Amino acid sequence: MKDYFCMGIEYMAIASISLKHRNTFALPVNALHLIIADRTELMLKVWQQTQKYQIPLLVLGEGSNMLFLEDFSGTVMVNQLKGINIKEKSDTWHLHVSSGENWHALVCYTLARGIAGLENLALIPGLVGSAPIQNVGAYGIELKNICEYVDLLDLFTGSINRIPGDECGFGYRESVFKYQLQTQYIIIGLGLCLSKKWRPMLRYGDLTKLNPATVTPNQIFDSVCAMRRSKLPDYRKLGNAGSFFKNPLVSAEKYALLISQYPNMSHYYQDDGQVKLAAGWLIENCELKGYRVGGAAVYHNQALVLVNVNNATSQDVVSLARHVRATVAFKFDIWLEPEVRFIGAMGELNAVEVLS
Ligand code: FAD
Ligand code: EPU
Repeated sequence: MKDYFCMGIEYMAIASISLKHRNTFALPVNALHLIIADRTELMLKVWQQTQKYQIPLLVLGEGSNMLFLEDFSGTVMVNQLKGINIKEKSDTWHLHVSSGENWHALVCYTLARGIAGLENLALIPGLVGSAPIQNVGAYGIELKNICEYVDLLDLFTGSINRIPGDECGFGYRESVFKYQLQTQYIIIGLGLCLSKKWRPMLRYGDLTKLNPATVTPNQIFDSVCAMRRSKLPDYRKLGNAGSFFKNPLVSAEKYALLISQYPNMSHYYQDDGQVKLAAGWLIENCELKGYRVGGAAVYHNQALVLVNVNNATSQDVVSLARHVRATVAFKFDIWLEPEVRFIGAMGELNAVEVLS
């Protein structure tokens, strides 16, 4: 093991380090080593060393979509690849953004330069490089609408591969980066294409109150920030990882049955005939708002968010999530699937299996 700490590359390696401030749930977990990686060469060297010593490696952004189940028995590599490059064409802006940039800061950066198109995605926590993994989305826009390409570092070969946006398998909280392109690759950059023929997306929430003829990107930004601040807890004050579960998709038949019993149930028709239900509505209608297990609770203002109210442990959050899932299934015959990624001692675990 000694070699591992003496390999002569510039990084911070510590025998055990707290991740409490590196996961937005603020769970008290540790990792064996923490490495701040600001160059792809360093990422490659770290990967080679972890392979050599058979130590698990976890790439970490801002930890805003993770549930650590226990201490991580390996190396956590924090992505800090930086840089934003903008090219202007006659009808479009093309941005190349390094994956370690902060997403919300990028939204602000573009708006400050008169580049519209990211305003609906304001205040989503995390890094740019994490955004394609679950195809981040909010208020009617998903990353897939603007993603031109994703650049991947292939850890086996050291080469950089560019995946065009339409080959990323983007779906609702889905992409190839969760499956085929997960283990051997690190996302190092993102290409975004933003049209100069800006059209406001005003279909959701308070955005419907804005006038499409006069609204500006900054007004949308302000409205999105206000809505998010009124509904979602600030993870710096109350640990959480945003929506804990995904909104479930059900068949038209299942939807017809449910809506006959619950006429005020929130729902969204999909192009493929399925209907998306609001998991927050389902959880609230099981009267689970405020329900608590140890230090973890269902957030009183948005039932889809589980919060760390008082020094929660990973086990508190798991027990709470298991109870929420079973209660919703009992009442509505729908098994919710976690959106949050579950991380065990050796790496990611299947979240549904953990909760079953
Ligand atoms: P992390 O949690 O650090 O990592 C997530 C996963 O990606 C991990 O498996 C990690 O290993 C992997 N990973 C990270 N970086 C890389 C990389 N460079 N290469 C390969 N793998 C990598 N999401 C939405 O879609 N819409 C929302 O509106 C939204 N609102 C939120 C609100 C709150 C209050 C919170 C806490 C979260 C919210 N989220 C939302 C979820 C979260 O912000 C996104 O999933 C975000 O993209 C995660 O970024 P991160 O850098 O924190 O990723
Ligand atoms: N609702 C309730 N009770 C609740 C919560 C919600 O009845 O406790 C109802 C609302 O009244 C509304 C519907 O459910 O009719 C949807 O609620 P909301 O607009 O708050 O959005 P959501 O479906 O809960 C999704 C995303 C969010 C994203 C918002 C805005 C998922 C899993 N979550 O939440 O993303 O910010 O829409 O677009 O798709 C995240 O992924 O972490 C996240 C926060």
